[in-house]
Amino acid sequence: MAVTESHHRHYQAKQVPLFPLLSLICFVSIFLALSVFHKTSVSPRPHQSFQFIDGVRSGRSKAADGRSCDYSDGNWFHDPNLRISNYDHTCKEIFKGWNCFAANKSNALEITNWHWKPKQCDLPHFDPVSFLEKFRNTNIGFVGDSLNRNMFVSLFCSLKRVHGEVKKWRPAGADRGFSFLEYNLTIAYHRTNILARYGWWSANADGGKLESLGYKGGYRVDVDIPESSWIEAPNFHDILVFNTGHWWWAPSKFDPVKSPMLFFEKGLPVIPPVPPDVGFDMVLKHMISYVEQRMPPGKIKFFRTQSPRHFEGGDWYQGGSCQRQQPISPQQAEDLFSLTNNGTNVEVRLVNEHLFKALNGTSFHILNITPMSELRADAHPASAGGKKHDDCMHWCLPGLTDTWNDLFIQHLYKH
Ligand SMILES: *[C@@H]1O[C@H](CO)[C@@H](O)[C@H](O)[C@H]1NC(C)=O
Ligand SMILES: *[C@@H]1O[C@H](CO)[C@@H](O)[C@H](O)[C@H]1NC(C)=O
Ligand SMILES: *[C@@H]1O[C@H](CO)[C@@H](O)[C@H](O)[C@H]1NC(C)=O
Ligand SMILES: *[C@@H]1O[C@H](CO)[C@@H](O)[C@H](O)[C@H]1NC(C)=O
Repeated sequence: MAVTESHHRHYQAKQVPLFPLLSLICFVSIFLALSVFHKTSVSPRPHQSFQFIDGVRSGRSKAADGRSCDYSDGNWFHDPNLRISNYDHTCKEIFKGWNCFAANKSNALEITNWHWKPKQCDLPHFDPVSFLEKFRNTNIGFVGDSLNRNMFVSLFCSLKRVHGEVKKWRPAGADRGFSFLEYNLTIAYHRTNILARYGWWSANADGGKLESLGYKGGYRVDVDIPESSWIEAPNFHDILVFNTGHWWWAPSKFDPVKSPMLFFEKGLPVIPPVPPDVGFDMVLKHMISYVEQRMPPGKIKFFRTQSPRHFEGGDWYQGGSCQRQQPISPQQAEDLFSLTNNGTNVEVRLVNEHLFKALNGTSFHILNITPMSELRADAHPASAGGKKHDDCMHWCLPGLTDTWNDLFIQHLYKH
């Protein structure tokens, strides 16, 4: 285990808010010191903090010459003649704030000229037609926050481009879903912020353990009960892709004082109350075991690692923004994301520590999109997101999540 950074897991009250009311974001430049980065030559320095995946199903697989290939370890290469996307901005499912071309973001097309090249092998761009053929009679669910929706939309647009005949519906409690009729392939997005069920809790006049500790209100989080939006998903789908992370570091909703997370297990409050990072571990443990118990062994479960934000010059509510036109270098990524530096976007690697620990020894495959995504400071909507703040959290479409799907589908072909 070669984690190069120290662990500091205690809950940090003020940091990284994120979804302020589901909106986001912004920017400026604390990192003026970072030098201008050269376009095509991302230097091949490894992300040391991601070498701790031995013993976990990290999605390693054999390269052509039989060596093991880590798809997450690679570089971005620029090719002006390449358009990696299978679709364009006319796909109607693209949420307006993510449609960077329609919103005139200056580098909207350029974003898709970058190709991810793992060091030991290649990651091909998936072919939608052969994907539809191979996955006839299959149901695929994305379960998680808006970043998983971003990935779901990318997959939908790729498939819709080659096969127009779809039925729109909401299978198994999904927020949205589509069946590609000729192939009987269904893909769906199940919206859930923290996987577990939660809702507002107020102190009861009769009193109870939380009341006696002085709690007046907060969010009750049932660590052992899945949110209803996806509770049926393991029964319906053959393949599931989970994520959660941003909301656990979002004091704009879960304010540690005004609206703390109050964890319940087996219907009773966890006493003494635990901070969100401990509750996060409890939720992961229960949700993973819920899925493993309900999905037969032949079905395939993925957990996607955390998607990084790229706020520079402050967080979303402090005028932070993400105005880079090109990917950053591995060194710049270290500066932005290392736990030691404890910067604005530090949550990405914190979340991953929790995920890797919880997933170790389970039947989940890990879809490690973090290292490739940390370099893509150029690929967020920024001011094209149409909010008061820059959106440095979601991704332009077409864009980076197309490559996440290349990785996802590459893993599927191997299993
Ligand atoms: C983008 O530019 C086009 C052409 O200049 C213009 O018609 C359109 O209104 C712009 N869109 C936005 C969201 O600013
Ligand atoms: C469509 O796929 C589902 C499984 O995903 C299967 O249960 C159903 O029988 C299939 N329908 C047809 C007509 O093949
Ligand atoms: C990280 O930074 C935040 C403020 O941005 C601070 O509240 C917190 O204590 C810091 N954590 C560590 C471990 O230094
Ligand atoms: C996974 O678990 C094994 C033993 O169960 C342990 O040796 C290994 O260090 C763990 N890996 C991580 C990433 O926690």
